[in-house]
Amino acid sequence: MDTFAFIIHPIDPKKDVSRKFPWLGRHLSTRQIDFFSTFFPPVYISEIDGITSESTGKQVKGWFVACPLTSRRMFELPEWMVYRKIIQTGKMAERLGAKILGLGAFTSVVGDAGMTIARSLKVPVTTGDAYTISIAVQSIREAARRMDIPLEKASAAVVGATGKIGRVCAELLSENVARLYLIGRKENLLRELRDHLSGAGSCELIVSTNLASLTHAQLILTVTSALDDIVEPEHLLPGSVVCDVARPRDVSAMIAATRNDILVIDGGMVDVPGPVDFHFNFGFPADKAYACMAETIALALEGRFEDYTLGRQITRARVDEITGIAEKHGFRLSGFRSFEREVTQEHIDAVRQNAQSRMRR
Ligand SMILES: NC(=O)c1ccc[n+]([C@@H]2O[C@H](COP(=O)([O-])OP(=O)(O)OC[C@H]3O[C@@H](n4cnc5c(N)ncnc54)[C@H](OP(=O)(O)O)[C@@H]3O)[C@@H](O)[C@H]2O)c1
Repeated sequence: MDTFAFIIHPIDPKKDVSRKFPWLGRHLSTRQIDFFSTFFPPVYISEIDGITSESTGKQVKGWFVACPLTSRRMFELPEWMVYRKIIQTGKMAERLGAKILGLGAFTSVVGDAGMTIARSLKVPVTTGDAYTISIAVQSIREAARRMDIPLEKASAAVVGATGKIGRVCAELLSENVARLYLIGRKENLLRELRDHLSGAGSCELIVSTNLASLTHAQLILTVTSALDDIVEPEHLLPGSVVCDVARPRDVSAMIAATRNDILVIDGGMVDVPGPVDFHFNFGFPADKAYACMAETIALALEGRFEDYTLGRQITRARVDEITGIAEKHGFRLSGFRSFEREVTQEHIDAVRQNAQSRMRR
């Protein structure tokens, strides 16, 4: 049977460590987990079975392996130390027999986005970012439809627009919406992106380094590598949609608590084909996965055992190709979730009503 492995790591340290080691998660503080994660070895998490291609009937088996470093630790440590730990985790995947390896969350963000890691391992590697882009953009389009926001007239924003995922999301969204705010921290890079995109269509492109620009956007896709929340309740227009692709999240939990007139959705959740069992609760319902996991699995189902999405320049062609492969095998954009809860049609209707009454006030 063809095989794959996927590297996960603690994003919300106490919660995520508790998923495998309840005692440690309960007794260590976040700061202690950050510190000890440097010295912890890679961890075998679980075997994944039941994945079956909808079109070919092929089955694949996989494994979750964990790099112990937290997101904060990956930021603080020298790059070579982070690479070393991810490569050690990749070698565990090789020993298990994986034929392709996916890099989850910050293991795909660090340094040159998988290139050094791929060069140091025998198993081919992918970051999963191409399918993450595809699903993020599909999510915001679908959320706009369900909130009755006409895409072609909409004002949208991408936060983290100069990042490797944000850049291609901005390119794809600029083909659908009337106005697009490109938001980030480096004005020169934002201007370069605006110039690169401006030949393509009629969308008005506006560069901003100020999150207050979000008050002009009905549709927001946020995908930064910030360690803490950056999108706060005061930034948002009543009735707007925020698709949060970042892990750790960009969107403050305060929005769920204080703004019942905003639809926040998690970006990147897909349905997996076949009676999948991950034998590990990573925070999603049983038959769903992150798009970056799905990219790795889809490549295994397709028999494409090669380095796939690596590096900081992701092309449209790669996004289109992996979308075709994933759809062929039965991966689909899943229903919406928000702060680990299902988003029902009743919730969406309530958000729209609350937005209307807030605008009337
Ligand atoms: N949901 C999924 O399935 C999935 C899959 C893959 C990745 N991800 C997540 O997606 C996120 C982005 O990944 P990436 O690979 O695109 O990262 P990246 O290439 O490093 O880009 C991140 C962008 O965020 C910006 N940024 C960082 N901190 C910021 C802050 N405090 N305020 C505003 N902008 C900030 C960076 O700008 P500067 O240039 O100014 O630093 C950069 O443009 C990460 O959180 C990652 O874990 C999610």
